[in-house]
Amino acid sequence: MDPTKVSSERLQRVLPDALAALHGVIERHRVTEQEWSAVLAFLTEVGRHEEFVLLSDVTKTSVLVDAISHEGETDATPSDVEGPLYREDPPWREKPVKIYEKYEGVENGDVLFVHGRVTSANGTPISDAVLDIWQTGPDGGYDVWDERQPDYNFRGRFGVEEDGSYEFQTMVPKPYTVPTDGPVGRLLEASGQHPWRPAHIHFKVDAEGHEPLITQVFFPDDPYLENDTIGAVKPALVRPLIGHEAEEEVARRGLSAPFYTCEFDITLEPAMSAARA
Ligand code: BEZ
Ligand code: FE
Repeated sequence: MDPTKVSSERLQRVLPDALAALHGVIERHRVTEQEWSAVLAFLTEVGRHEEFVLLSDVTKTSVLVDAISHEGETDATPSDVEGPLYREDPPWREKPVKIYEKYEGVENGDVLFVHGRVTSANGTPISDAVLDIWQTGPDGGYDVWDERQPDYNFRGRFGVEEDGSYEFQTMVPKPYTVPTDGPVGRLLEASGQHPWRPAHIHFKVDAEGHEPLITQVFFPDDPYLENDTIGAVKPALVRPLIGHEAEEEVARRGLSAPFYTCEFDITLEPAMSAARA
């Protein structure tokens, strides 16, 4: 814990418990000096590779903290972990929103239109909501891993319509592995944990007077839905993909191949300060 970010009262309460739990494990398992040095060397390497978020994710600690932070938000769309692949300042996408550009490899996937409405719990549209989306391409993963992709491909921010509705064009993502070329990858391998995540799309949603929402959308029949390596799948976030094959529909979208749609309505929680007033 960074004492500049956590109140000292909280630090003085939590730290002794955390240390007692750690000391208990060391005692119970009779951890040796050699083993403890290896742990410290590993954590040093995790820091050097900037993999602490990834470590928190694959140990399912992020999911636990997310659940605790949002308990009681029963009316809002369930939140989910951010993960380490978010990039600040993604491009603003004008309407009709498309979050990717053509690149070698794009033909390996299926076009997907995601649509829905952003509302408050009573159904009032939130017309000033801003969506921020990031996801992998249909093969090869995130822009930062895939040299064929333009910078910030499959990322973008955009506003909603007056009635809270939105739609964006993307491609159906595929399952992928979290980074395995660093210390966390070695830990996964050594502990026998697979590195796969089910296909998903990340959302950040911001609107005046509402709690920000970070979440993910998943799709049925994914082989990793039941065993996501970060344990982040929530049944309420699994949304069907609807196939569209009719020639007129394909032509109306200006496409040359069948495509998919997916509906994802988003409900935001009132801001804590508004709820308290
Ligand atoms: C992701 O979904 O982007 C992600 C989450 C946790 C670890 C690595 C990647
Ligand atoms: Fe992801």
